[in-house]
Amino acid sequence: MIRSVVQGCGAYLPERIVTNDELAKKMETSDEWIQQRTGIKQRHIAADGEFTSHLALKAAERALAHAGLDGADLDLIVLATATPDETFPATATVVQKALGMHKGAAFDLQAVCAGFVYGVSVADSMIKNGLAGTAMVIGAETFSRILDWNDRGTCVLFGDGAGAIVLKGEQGAGTSADRGILANALHSDGRQHDILYVDGGPSSTRTTGFLRMEGKEVFKHAVVNMAAVVGEVLGKAGLEAKDIDWLVPHQANKRIIDSTGRKLGLAPEKVVVTVDKHANTSAASIPLALDTAVKDGRIKKGDLTLLEGIGGGLAWGASLIRW
Ligand code: ACO
Repeated sequence: MIRSVVQGCGAYLPERIVTNDELAKKMETSDEWIQQRTGIKQRHIAADGEFTSHLALKAAERALAHAGLDGADLDLIVLATATPDETFPATATVVQKALGMHKGAAFDLQAVCAGFVYGVSVADSMIKNGLAGTAMVIGAETFSRILDWNDRGTCVLFGDGAGAIVLKGEQGAGTSADRGILANALHSDGRQHDILYVDGGPSSTRTTGFLRMEGKEVFKHAVVNMAAVVGEVLGKAGLEAKDIDWLVPHQANKRIIDSTGRKLGLAPEKVVVTVDKHANTSAASIPLALDTAVKDGRIKKGDLTLLEGIGGGLAWGASLIRW
């Protein structure tokens, strides 16, 4: 059977770092408040003229270099983003052109902070169905552009960044010990729209709008849904929590991450945490964390790696990968 096997990964963060203390000079907040509730110490903010496609391209180039491939080898780009350069065309096509990829398909996918696991799942399905052979999944965001910088309850939580992985269809026996994506699970619940959304859009207001969130409500749903979807994806693969080598969760909040790790009975060392360095970068957060743990030597070939994320919609999901 065909398996989607990871060939490489890459990530990019904009140069400018904004610390909690710097924010505290501009608004009524403190490093202590932000760190205690979220674990965030700093975020990276894109420069003027630096767009989502620029961040995505840098992450994509690094992922290709890590995989030993170039743009012409790809026949699919799925770019998960809620902050595209333009309403259309897809930001993925901007990246496609810049990578010198002139075949196949490139499109954007919108599932906010769950975008990366949605993207992995879609690319995996397309590879298994013969619609693509070698695919790039990118999560890239410039959330700084949709933040209300007068709302201290939300603006301190987010940052900009990008990450990417390259997947290739390979024939294999298809056991849970073989490398590749073992299982995916996706969910959404449109009834929860009002607890996390952007109050603008091309069709409704002809503006971009700003992010609005009821943090406590999101927190409750995140804790419950993350534990459930992790159990679901493990069940699909016939594996158990004790088999997990690495949990790579959406990096929104250290307390949500810790709670998921505890529910799974995982030792804290098995949970990859990078939220302190880049805050919540929405669709980019999982590949940013993945890239960190792969490049520092923690995640190795053959390790059972679990990705999970939740965001606006609500939309959530998980992917289980034998790295
Ligand atoms: N600095 C200082 N004080 C603040 C700040 C701030 N930046 N923001 C809010 N406060 C104040 C509030 O005004 C409130 O003051 P009051 O008690 O005088 O009214 C007090 O702090 C407590 O506010 P709460 O909103 O109740 O704080 P809470 O403990 O719930 O923490 C937080 C807020 C961090 C947002 C928390 O609810 C949370 O982490 N929720 C999950 C949100 C999340 O992770 N979202 C992303 C997931 S989905 C996605 O990634 C898009």
